[in-house]
Amino acid sequence: MTTWKAKLMGVRGLGGPCRSLFIVAVLAYLLGVLTSPAFPTTRRFSDTDVKLQPFQQIISQQISPPETSQGAPAPTSQPLPQRTSTPPRIDDCRKQQQPPGYRMLPTDLITFHTECKKEAMAPEAARKFLIDELFDGVSPFESFPPKEVASLLQPERIKGWGSETTVFRRLMQEVRPRVMIELGSFLGASATHMGSIARELGLQTDIFCFDDFRGWPGFRSGDLADIKQRNGNVMLMNQFMQNVVHRNLTERILPVPFGTVSSLSSFCKWGIYADLIEVDASHDFHSAWSDINIAFQLLRPGGVMFGHDYKTAADKRGVRRAVDLFARLNDLRVEPDGQHWIYRSKNK
Ligand SMILES: C[S@@+](CC[C@H](N)C(=O)[O-])C[C@H]1O[C@@H](n2cnc3c(N)ncnc32)[C@H](O)[C@@H]1O
Ligand SMILES: *[C@@H]1O[C@H](CO)[C@@H](O)[C@H](O)[C@H]1NC(C)=O
Repeated sequence: MTTWKAKLMGVRGLGGPCRSLFIVAVLAYLLGVLTSPAFPTTRRFSDTDVKLQPFQQIISQQISPPETSQGAPAPTSQPLPQRTSTPPRIDDCRKQQQPPGYRMLPTDLITFHTECKKEAMAPEAARKFLIDELFDGVSPFESFPPKEVASLLQPERIKGWGSETTVFRRLMQEVRPRVMIELGSFLGASATHMGSIARELGLQTDIFCFDDFRGWPGFRSGDLADIKQRNGNVMLMNQFMQNVVHRNLTERILPVPFGTVSSLSSFCKWGIYADLIEVDASHDFHSAWSDINIAFQLLRPGGVMFGHDYKTAADKRGVRRAVDLFARLNDLRVEPDGQHWIYRSKNK
C-alpha cells in the first residue's frame, strides 16, 4: 500500500509530458501484466520489480520506435531495419523531480552503442570472409590436429547440457537458417547436434560458434578432468574441433574463438547477420544481458533467437531475468520450451 502512495505523490512532482507518460505507462503496465501470457496473474512481483516496472515501460517507449514493416529480405546485401535509432530521452524526465523511493535505470545500462553495418553481407560470403579475417585465409580444420596436439585429444569427447532437446530441431525446421550463431559452444554438443540436423534437412547452414574456449575456472575438476591442458592452454578448442571433424561437420561449423561481446560487435561492424541465434555462454545476469542485447541486433528480420537456462537456477536465474527484462523493454513475447526461451523478431 505504501509504495503506491509513494508513487502517486511522486507523480505529482513530475512535470507535464513526463507525468502523462508516467500515467500512461502505469496503465499500460497494469494491462500488460494482466494480459501477458509470460506473466500469469498469480505471479507476484518482488519489491524491485514493482518499483522499476513503470520506468522500464517509459524507457521502452522511448528507445523502441515503432518498427517499420518491410518486405521479405532478399538473401543478398540489403539495408536492414534499424532498431534502436532514437536515443533515450529519459534525461529530460530525470531533470525533474523523481518520485521518492524510485531507482531510475541509468541509460548506460540499457543502451548498447554497437553500430551495425546497414548493408548486410551476403550470407554465402560470410564463412570465407571469417576464414580470411580470423585464420589468415586457411581453414582451421586444414591439417588438423597438428602432431603436438593430437596426443592430447580423444577421438571424440562430448559433453553438453540440454544440448539435444527438441527445440533445436523444431527451430531449424521452422527457420531453415542459412547463417546461425551460437554463443557458447564448449565441446560442441549443441553445435554438432544442429550441424547434423542441418545435414539431415539438406540445409546449407553455416554455424558460427562463438566461444573463448576457456570454459570457466575449475571446469576440469570432476568429470571433465580428462580434458588435457599444456602450459595453461586447455584443449577445449582443439577437442571441440576434433569432435567436429569426427562428425564430419567441418564444412558447416566454424569456431570464432573470442569473447562473445567482442565477436558480436565485430559481426555487427562487418554486417554479418544471422537467421537463428542460440545464446548459451555465461549465465549470470550481466553477461546474458549484454549477449542478448547485442545479439538481437544481429538477427535478420523474421529471425529467431533462443537460449538455454530459462528454467534452471544457474547463477540465480540471471538468464531468465535478462530474458524477461529484454522482452519487456522491447515488447517481445518469451516463448518457453523446456529449459529454453525463444524470441521471434517481429519484422518479417
Ligand atoms: C554451458 S557452455 C555451452 C554449452 C553448449 N552450448 C552445449 O550445449 O553443448 C558455456 C560456454 O560458454 C563459454 N563462454 C562463457 N562466457 C563467455 C564469453 N564471455 N565469451 C566467450 N565464451 C564464453 C565457455 O567457454 C563455455 O564453453
Ligand atoms: C563428409 O561430408 C562431406 C560433405 O560435407 C561429404 O562429401 C563426404 O562424403 C562426407 N564423408 C563421410 C565419410 O561421410
